[in-house]
Amino acid sequence: MSDIRRAYSAWAATYDTDNNLTRDLDQAVTRAELAGYTGARILEIGCGTGKNTVFLAGIGARVVALDFTAAMIREARRKLAGTSALFASADLTRPWPCAARCADLVVCNLVLEHIEDLAPVFSEAGRVLTDGGRFFICELHPFRQYEGKKATFQRGQTQIEIPAFVHHISAFLDAAESAGFALRSLREWWHEADQAAPPRLVSFLFEWQPPLITDL
Ligand SMILES: C[S@@+](CC[C@H](N)C(=O)[O-])C[C@H]1O[C@@H](n2cnc3c(N)ncnc32)[C@H](O)[C@@H]1O
Repeated sequence: MSDIRRAYSAWAATYDTDNNLTRDLDQAVTRAELAGYTGARILEIGCGTGKNTVFLAGIGARVVALDFTAAMIREARRKLAGTSALFASADLTRPWPCAARCADLVVCNLVLEHIEDLAPVFSEAGRVLTDGGRFFICELHPFRQYEGKKATFQRGQTQIEIPAFVHHISAFLDAAESAGFALRSLREWWHEADQAAPPRLVSFLFEWQPPLITDL
């Protein structure tokens, strides 16, 4: 088991209730940014305990959620019991268990700091999205990463840091462009408690654009 999966297995039981401004801001941002996607077929990647899956299941025609930590998915399944949301275990760095062109919207929150190479993620998002489909990403802002911030939680007296990789803004934009995405919006977000601090989160909305020439 990877260190990342082991850490999230340990965090799963208290992820929703720990004091965590980043999680709370991400939840508010996602609701504000995606409220218009009613009726979409939504693929959520790295769903965790289903904090955002609940909202997505409320607006989407269909929601499928992937994650590689069983304990996190267990929490999400409990939260989404009685809805049509489907969960599957998958490592996002490998091919996703989804058919091509099955989704109108791919949603990814607070996950990519744990994935070193962004290219396979953008490539798979491009494969599963319909023409003109959108890829929404909300992540810890690299400005915060430059200060050493990363996903952490407390167990007893020990602060547990989850392995993380810094992705500069240009890395997101380059990976997206290489995979055939066009940027539709880039926004920076502060929690009301952040005062004069650097932005806590960055969100991107990319549009997948099919190649102009598909056959000769
Ligand atoms: C900080 S949690 C975010 C969960 C949820 N998206 C949210 O916003 O609350 C990060 C999640 O990413 C998942 N994750 C990290 N790396 C992954 C990978 N390579 N494949 C699948 N899931 C991964 C972890 O298991 C964890 O559930």
